[in-house]
Amino acid sequence: GKIVLAYSGGLDTSIILKWLQETYGCEVVTFTADLGQGEELEPARAKAAMLGVRDIRIVDLREEFVRDFVFPMLRANALYEGQYLLGSSIARPLISKHLVAIAREVGADAVAHGSTGKGNDQVRFELAVNALAPSLEVIAPWRQWNIRSRTELLAYAEKHGIPVPSDKRGEAPFSIDANLLHTSTEGKILEDPAEIAPDYIYQRTVDPVDAPDVPETVTIGFKHGDPVSVNGALMTPAALLTELNRLGGRHGVGRLDLVENRFIGMKSRGVYETPGGTILLAAHRGMESITLDRAAAHLKDEIMPRYAELIYNGFWFAPEREMLQALIDHSQAFVSGEVTVRLYKGSAAVIARTSPSSLYSADLVTFEESAVAYDHHDAQGFIRLNGLRLRSWAARNALSPAS
Ligand code: ARG
Ligand code: SIN
Repeated sequence: GKIVLAYSGGLDTSIILKWLQETYGCEVVTFTADLGQGEELEPARAKAAMLGVRDIRIVDLREEFVRDFVFPMLRANALYEGQYLLGSSIARPLISKHLVAIAREVGADAVAHGSTGKGNDQVRFELAVNALAPSLEVIAPWRQWNIRSRTELLAYAEKHGIPVPSDKRGEAPFSIDANLLHTSTEGKILEDPAEIAPDYIYQRTVDPVDAPDVPETVTIGFKHGDPVSVNGALMTPAALLTELNRLGGRHGVGRLDLVENRFIGMKSRGVYETPGGTILLAAHRGMESITLDRAAAHLKDEIMPRYAELIYNGFWFAPEREMLQALIDHSQAFVSGEVTVRLYKGSAAVIARTSPSSLYSADLVTFEESAVAYDHHDAQGFIRLNGLRLRSWAARNALSPAS
């Protein structure tokens, strides 16, 4: 049989490729997804070819990633543990979907991935494969071989003549995962949460301290909950996110230094850069602020942590995620219009919003005289009835407690 490997071209998956060929003695097909990670993918092709791969698949998934995964998630304003925009989590189901499709096409009996046995990513890949191809086998070399650390991994690479890349400072690289939504950096010095992350780890955002002293405003157009334009120019999903990454990165927007709870059970510290996603979250909330009914908005906020946790834990392809998605999507019918955001030294603040389907009524809320039918006396009764039980409660509390 054949094995299809999710291959980044990086060190870990190159070693895995070698190991699979040696251990299983079968043909390994590599699949490299272009998710806008911002690095050339031709070197991945060359490296796979050098390692003896004949069937090398490199697929541009940028539009599908943003349109079918990032935007649906953004409709929910999803944040894990209140802060993490799920940049790695949301990419895994897409990669898995294509791994499965290629496995079917080439008649493979297994797929393989390079995630460690300690992380979230192994869970996400495998749950997605379970949901999409229940009988397909998954090979996770990190859980099977006897390499136990990054140090041993480097020794294995050296022994097999696999070039070890070093970062700009000549050291072995951090564990980095990048795509159009974010860059995540973990490992090495970051494993001590007491250590301040050094500035050289940041890849796509400037330090807010060094960002321009002049703010920049950007206007984002929305249609049914999805962003469609930047400063009046219609853009495809991937082009739009790319543009916002550029603007946000320049102003130091979207840096996050976080200790999070992995699904597997341990805490982990990572540094994230999500410039465009951070702008979009603020803008989408701004759009919803004038277009969603209060109860609808509050219900979305209640289910959001649950939805975010499903994505974090790898349950994108699961019935409960699809059910929540249907609810979220239904809420977005009138979430259309424009939001203006000001970018300044690390912040992305909504400063204006308009919508043809706004629920906002200046006439209703105005401090000035208003033509709208609103009887102030109604508020008196509204408060009197809401206060009824509070008056009873307070009167009771004035008594000494019954013995
Ligand atoms: N901790 C993040 C998550 O679970 C990022 C993991 C990304 N992987 C990596 N090799 N840095 O979603
Ligand atoms: C890994 O363990 O492979 C990366 C980190 C994670 O998946 O949480």
